[in-house]
Amino acid sequence: MTEGQVFKGDIIFTPTPQGFVSFRGGYIVVLHGKVEGVYKELPPLFDGLPVHDFGRRLILPGFVDLHVHASQFYQSGVGLDQELIPWLHGRTFPLEGRFADPEFAREAYSRFVEELIRQGTLRACIYATVHKESTAILFELLRARGIGAFVGKVNMDCHCPPYLQETTAASLQETEELIMRYNGHPLVTPIITPRFAPTSSVELLEGLGRLAQKYNLPVQSHLSENKEEVEWVKELFPSLPTYADVYYHFGLLGRTLTLMAHAIHLSERELELIENSAVWLVHCPEANINLSSGIMPARELLDRGIRLGLGSDIGAGHNLALYRVMVRAIQLSKLRSIEDPRIKPLTTAEVFYMGTKGGGSFFGRVGSFEQGYSFDALVVEDEPLITAGFSLEERLQRFLYTGEAGQIAARFVEGNRIG
Ligand code: GUN
Ligand code: FE
Repeated sequence: MTEGQVFKGDIIFTPTPQGFVSFRGGYIVVLHGKVEGVYKELPPLFDGLPVHDFGRRLILPGFVDLHVHASQFYQSGVGLDQELIPWLHGRTFPLEGRFADPEFAREAYSRFVEELIRQGTLRACIYATVHKESTAILFELLRARGIGAFVGKVNMDCHCPPYLQETTAASLQETEELIMRYNGHPLVTPIITPRFAPTSSVELLEGLGRLAQKYNLPVQSHLSENKEEVEWVKELFPSLPTYADVYYHFGLLGRTLTLMAHAIHLSERELELIENSAVWLVHCPEANINLSSGIMPARELLDRGIRLGLGSDIGAGHNLALYRVMVRAIQLSKLRSIEDPRIKPLTTAEVFYMGTKGGGSFFGRVGSFEQGYSFDALVVEDEPLITAGFSLEERLQRFLYTGEAGQIAARFVEGNRIG
């Protein structure tokens, strides 16, 4: 990486969910991979730095996918005529079983990583499978490609098929081995990943809570996606008042940075547990439609000040392209708004914020071009879509709705070009 560099183009980003900031023919100065500032004219102080001139192309923050199953990329778009529990047993567990074979895993994960990057996702929170060796392969592939990621070895010690079921002790031990091997890297690090409460014993949840605290690691899991699942959790953990309480009780909700995917059917008590703690909820609109799970009440969650990001949730979702997930989030919010006009639909700026700075905040200063932020950026060529007469915001909007990965001309992470 060069110490200092300048990026010139049509710059657009969302410092707040309230709206876009844009600079036509502006300059982003990047020092040591971090944004120093965005300017209409290049200040003389920075004369002499190398300039990457992208002309009339759009420069926007890279996308942040807060919930994606790398293994399930293999089955994107297949077998979605079911709800969550039958889909897990009929489709997803059998596929994940194949990741016991490291060669299969290497092939499947390579394709996943390439497509993720091609689609412009430069940071992701990723589930592998229960298998230690193939999870290690995923760590290595991501590190070699230079994007940012949290990677979780999935933990499951009950209520899953025998070929995926771990013993509690082995599950904890292998998780800790991976933590010791992969913690401390600047871009790709471990995250504690109990698949969800129903496939976890009390001992496993306790052990994972201890590991999260011992290594100060973030946690990711699924919460309240499907009504049958919520009922099942009540039966399995009768002494705990709610689904969110299960994670909370074992130190897996808000003790360290926490991601909870779906979060559709939450009670008032659960919202209170979440709203004042280090929990990001992940809106996965495509998966929620595909498995008939429900519609996340995103507007109400935002109004309460709860942090929200977006997830492709491949393979319950079918689209790795986060720009399409943004569109789906808007569309779903409109369906809710038709049913209840008091609920305002999500705006383009709000969902763009969720897919960049909002989700990026889970990684630190990521997802914006404000001073001190990682320069994670996409250069989008939208000439073929006819740019004349449109504002930068309109051009971005058109890319989100109708653009293609092939229009992403360059990708940078921390100032390094990675594609
Ligand atoms: N809940 C538990 N496991 C999964 C999974 O793999 N996908 C989704 N969408 N929900 C889950
Ligand atoms: Fe998921």
